[in-house]
Amino acid sequence: MPSQPRALSGIQPTAGSFHLGNYLGAIRQYVALQESHDAFYMVVDLHAITVPQDPAELRVNTRIAAAQLLATGLDPELCTLFVQSHVPEHAQLAWVMNCITGFGEASRMTQFKDKSAKQGADRATVGLFTYPILQVADILLYQANSVPVGEDQRQHVELTRDIATRFNGRFGDTFTVPDPHILKEVAKIYDLQDPSVKMSKSAPTPKGLVNLLDEPKATAKKIKSAVTDADDPAVVRFDRDTKPGVSNLLTILSAMTDTPVADLEKRYEGSMYGPLKTDLAEVMADFCTGFKARTEEYLGDPETLDQILAKGAEKARAVAAETLARTYDRVGFLPAKH
Ligand code: TRP
Repeated sequence: MPSQPRALSGIQPTAGSFHLGNYLGAIRQYVALQESHDAFYMVVDLHAITVPQDPAELRVNTRIAAAQLLATGLDPELCTLFVQSHVPEHAQLAWVMNCITGFGEASRMTQFKDKSAKQGADRATVGLFTYPILQVADILLYQANSVPVGEDQRQHVELTRDIATRFNGRFGDTFTVPDPHILKEVAKIYDLQDPSVKMSKSAPTPKGLVNLLDEPKATAKKIKSAVTDADDPAVVRFDRDTKPGVSNLLTILSAMTDTPVADLEKRYEGSMYGPLKTDLAEVMADFCTGFKARTEEYLGDPETLDQILAKGAEKARAVAAETLARTYDRVGFLPAKH
């Protein structure tokens, strides 16, 4: 086991249901990686509170996120699944990382700029500003080699690499410099109603967003009423620029059924958009039916779920505590006597 490379990723417990964009963009990769890697996956509740959260909802959503990760196929025997706030070393290492990150460097993070612009700069918290630095700590604590994330997180992984390299240079070799692990073809899923924007939980209309825990019938309906491209004749062909709607559906079907897009183009040659939509609607409804049932099973037994998370936190802490102790030593903190 320890000879396997380490992978680490985090998912926010903010939305309730995972959506198709985060599932195909990142979460689905977690399952494959638990076989080939010593994998750590966490529900990042510390990150969640960088924007206002209702406390009761946050608690519920944290369990829902964990249940969905298990429903996706994460096996607690194969990987370490835990909740970020159960491992206090995250906040502790984040402080040290805050102190070696440049203010200008942090100011260049595009996700912060986007999020704070949306909220109004006065409402954005310091926590939101330092969000990427907490993420740096998440990754470095576990000496992760690989960070499976969506394309939107690439800059945060780059920051992690910069900071790890800087720390190692200044204080001696301490951290593994991680690589992002981004699945190119399926990294980007677009809104069903506006395929020029990424699928996201803040979709302009709920019709554009596929939530995996929604009623499967409603999801099938959304797929069938997805915007397609008004060219004549209506051919099924992948072309992000001139046919963004159809291309998005092809990307989704390709990812969900592990079929190359070229094969799908052939399959639908000579047909209009209808058969593609009908097939994809069925594939999605089937998938969501199983996913929802599995998630609900875990949520129906919160004691077992909490036990899985407690075990995960224990395994995570063993690794995190070691890295933190070494870091504290490197920066010159006087060891506490026990
Ligand atoms: N910022 C990530 C996101 O929004 C979540 C995250 C937090 C994460 N810590 C992480 C991802 C560490 C990878 C590694 O998707």
